[in-house]
Amino acid sequence: MTDQRARHTAERFREVYGAAPAGVWAAPGRVNLIGEHTDYNDGFVMPLALPHTILAAASPRTDGVLRVHSGDGSSGGGQIAELRLDALRPASDGGWAAYPAGVVWAMREAGLPVGGADLHYDSTVPVGAGLSSSAALEVVTALALDDLYGLGLTRQRLARLAQRAENAFVGVPCGIMDQTAAACCTEGHALFLDTRDLSQRQVPFDLAGRGLRLLVVDTRVKHELGDGAYAQRRAMCEHGARALGVHALRDVQYAQLPAALGSLAAAPQDAGPGGGPDVRAAVRHVVTENRRVEDVIARLDAGDPRAIGPLLTDGHASLRDDFRVSCAELDLAVAAAGAAGALGARMTGGGFGGSAVVLVEEAAADAVAGRIVQAFAAAGYARPRIFPAVPSAGARRLV
Ligand code: GLA
Repeated sequence: MTDQRARHTAERFREVYGAAPAGVWAAPGRVNLIGEHTDYNDGFVMPLALPHTILAAASPRTDGVLRVHSGDGSSGGGQIAELRLDALRPASDGGWAAYPAGVVWAMREAGLPVGGADLHYDSTVPVGAGLSSSAALEVVTALALDDLYGLGLTRQRLARLAQRAENAFVGVPCGIMDQTAAACCTEGHALFLDTRDLSQRQVPFDLAGRGLRLLVVDTRVKHELGDGAYAQRRAMCEHGARALGVHALRDVQYAQLPAALGSLAAAPQDAGPGGGPDVRAAVRHVVTENRRVEDVIARLDAGDPRAIGPLLTDGHASLRDDFRVSCAELDLAVAAAGAAGALGARMTGGGFGGSAVVLVEEAAADAVAGRIVQAFAAAGYARPRIFPAVPSAGARRLV
């Protein structure tokens, strides 16, 4: 299947650019199992790669020009976008081409000897579903350029460059989770990542072998609020860290939480725009969420994957009630999953729409999915798209 897609992507490259590509690379979308809104607090996350990938067929160019093309008409593909490397400026180019352009810009900004390239992309990662299609696009571009120009960069470095592209060139203040997931995940594992130093551990996550399934419920909604609200949550966390005199909220230990909350009681409690959390609620979410990541790992290490279910559901409550990044559709997905007998469920990713993950017994998966679809229909919401999250490989060269 992947081979066939790789051949097809190479063939499309030849149609578009008139010659065979030098290679074909892939990078996946992701879901996050646990550890939400912790990555920009130097905390812990635990994503896994999806089987859905963006493929890039690419060849180097010697004239300082970057050309990008996508077969996916829905994301503005069809036309070749042509950019001069010496004219790349942050936030100067709208649309999806800003992501690959930003990666080239970030590599050159870092002093890496990267020249031009022709790139053609083919994607099966749903766009706007909170499954990190942008990080997949950045990372597949970074990996292709790394290979084309013989840079030999580590996966962590590629992730950092991809994040730099998104932060400074595209202008989205995301953390490092999504890019690291796309770059570093491995088949059959969830990735335990310490976002402070990018140290990581591949945690075996053999759902099928244990008779379990992790469902992704793409709610198909994305609320406008999302972008400004993400920056507002980040600012509130930074405010909390400053008020507590720590470098980042990661430095507040779980056992210190009551004292930390007590000391913040005197601080101004402004809720941010859009009904965001006050600083105490933001701190409580981040500190308890880091703890939940550690607890999930302990339960997986103890060979008890079913026992992580309640931690997922607790994480959702914290995101909904304390951090306030959920929405009605995500809450309904989680509630309906719970009522239908799921082991646990939570929103995944930034929030305000996008997707939830639901841990279920394999035998109950279809029934639980059916109940979620019914609940959405009864509420008058669009039909959610539901599919299994099979822990898959991170970025790699295919051809
Ligand atoms: C988005 C960001 C990530 C992370 C999550 C929330 O996916 O891109 O860096 O902050 O939201 O956990």
